[in-house]
Amino acid sequence: MQLADAAARAEVLRREIERHNHAYYVLDRPTLPDAEYDRLFRELQAIEVAHPQLLTADSPTQRVGGKPLDGFSPVRHAVPMLSIRTETDTEASGALAFDARIRRELGFGESDPAVEYAAELKFDGLAINLRYEQGLLVQAATRGDGETGEEVTQNIRTVRQIPLRLSGKVPELLEVRGEAYMSRADFERYNERQRAQGKPALVNPRNGAAGSVRQLDPALCAARPLSFYAYGLGDIAGWDLPTSHADVLDALAAFGLPVCEHRAVVRGGEGLVEFHARIRELRDTLPFDIDGVVYKVNSLALQQRLGFVTREPRWAVAHKYPAEEMLTTVEAIEVQVGRTGAITPVARLAPVFVGGVTVTNATLHNEIEARRKDVRVGDTVIVRRAGDVIPEVVSVVLERRPKRDLLGDEPLHPPFELPRLCPVCGSAVERPEDEAIARCTGGLICPAQRKQALLHFAGRRAMDIEGLGDKLVEQLVDNAIVKTPADLYKLGLLAMASLERMAEKSAANLLAAIDRSRQTTLARFIFALGIRNVGEATAKDLARFFGSLDALMQAGMDRLQQVPDVGPVVAASIARFFAEPHNVEVIEQLRAAGVHWIEGEAAAVVSSPISGKTFVLTGSLPTLSRDEAKDMIEALGGKVAGSVSKKTDYVVAGFDAGTKLEKAQALGLAILDEIQFRELIGQ
Ligand code: IVH
Repeated sequence: MQLADAAARAEVLRREIERHNHAYYVLDRPTLPDAEYDRLFRELQAIEVAHPQLLTADSPTQRVGGKPLDGFSPVRHAVPMLSIRTETDTEASGALAFDARIRRELGFGESDPAVEYAAELKFDGLAINLRYEQGLLVQAATRGDGETGEEVTQNIRTVRQIPLRLSGKVPELLEVRGEAYMSRADFERYNERQRAQGKPALVNPRNGAAGSVRQLDPALCAARPLSFYAYGLGDIAGWDLPTSHADVLDALAAFGLPVCEHRAVVRGGEGLVEFHARIRELRDTLPFDIDGVVYKVNSLALQQRLGFVTREPRWAVAHKYPAEEMLTTVEAIEVQVGRTGAITPVARLAPVFVGGVTVTNATLHNEIEARRKDVRVGDTVIVRRAGDVIPEVVSVVLERRPKRDLLGDEPLHPPFELPRLCPVCGSAVERPEDEAIARCTGGLICPAQRKQALLHFAGRRAMDIEGLGDKLVEQLVDNAIVKTPADLYKLGLLAMASLERMAEKSAANLLAAIDRSRQTTLARFIFALGIRNVGEATAKDLARFFGSLDALMQAGMDRLQQVPDVGPVVAASIARFFAEPHNVEVIEQLRAAGVHWIEGEAAAVVSSPISGKTFVLTGSLPTLSRDEAKDMIEALGGKVAGSVSKKTDYVVAGFDAGTKLEKAQALGLAILDEIQFRELIGQ
């Protein structure tokens, strides 16, 4: 290619790729399939390699191009980066007080109109100043002390939501201020990966974001993905400034900058109160943490009239919500034994109200994590519960650790150690070299595993034995009445009614439910067995593929791996399960007790518009329960998966859909509401 042609082509590719980045990362509306995007990206890379003189700073290939730095250079802010006053009264009164103060300071009387406010979210990350000259991103800096920050341009370039070049008619100089943050999904994903490798996890998304921005090696920053929302301006030149803050935000969005959609222009204290309440409802379902909302007087002229007190503008306030991190104390550390024997250390806590619920337990995830955090009995700890994530211990407040005596340094309690024997059955606990999770080796000998296995067996999506819950299983196992699922079918009224708090009528109901469960489907039965790594979807695949239990039991590793979505790990779990004589015996007993299904029934594949398609359900649908939707999909030959991936064909999203929806949007998947879903399946 001639240099001139190459230059022209490179320019076209850059625009195209950045346009797609914007559609994908800012608007959540992908315009190209991934493969096509990759092709354009590689074409541009090839041109730049062949003609290095064509490489530009704003090329999308250069987002993670920089070399590790020795340190960050100081940047003096042209316009100081201020902070906002915080209203700690988390009730409606906090918003009313702000409105009253603004009116007073403006000299407004009762007859004056309501003040207009721009209301937005208070993002929980760190403030960044982006400097665009002639539309090109030339510098990114942290807030620092407000006067001087640190230059973090290389790292900020890895944030794909941030345009390297603004679009439209751009000002000569535009400094944009906003928050770099880590989404909950990116935080969880990063931590899961770290924990699986026995490496340190991030404490919370805010620390994750701060740590990421301050990585000297931009490649490390890129591995901890950040997001960004613009919320204000710094220095500007050559631009007709709009007259209100809301218009400024709209203008920033038009330049291609990410601006959060949850913003509103409201009137008076009432409007603020409503916004505060509306966002509080939404808080758990947002894909990122917020610790409050921010109110700003909308008119820039009024903002100027109000001015500043020291470092804070009079025209803005942050109105908080109850914290998602709180202090409490550890009363005990216990371990839980799961259905597959996984041993999870759990901290028992003095009850604390955090993230909208009272928390009494928090997971410590695994032995390595518990040791690293060094949580001990008696410790004061920070507990976090955000969104729908299970509560966890963030860190220990070491200064408050109880000491053995007043003068010495020696802690009262020793470091946590995972028991070497299962606390429930006394079998050995083992942790494979390369895994973070330790397991009880007792299998179904272990009452804890037995209880979990029975609960799983009786579960609604398995054998569906109504009324066989926690308490009952506990009694049945503890009194040695039931050892295996097969024993359930031998239960008589007498044994049942002898149990504590068991009325004769409920005993009879339960026996009837057990009896009903004898008639089932092959897929449910396979799922009910609780084979490690065999969830409901895999159980269905297996039933469909083999058509009979005997065929499945006799299948070797090779044959098992012919089943769609069954790889070596799952195949090995299945083979191991059926190689265990004890398991085969239980299956024989179940059959002898009259458990049956119509062999081959599941093999009949239905042909429908959705057969073979994978769905993910998230949030609550207006009229369908999750199980109903699932049954409808499966009846038509579709599959329902628990998590969103590139392999998902459709995501059916209802009210309060959380991170799954966010992920689906990021992946550009087809997202349906209930009506569209019903249309798809021809209802
Ligand atoms: S405006 C002059 N808007 O909160 C006002 N700040 O103490 C300058 N923050 O460091 C800030 N969300 O990092 C503004 N919607 C929002 C914000 C926000 C989060 C952070 C920001 C700043 C701190 C204020």
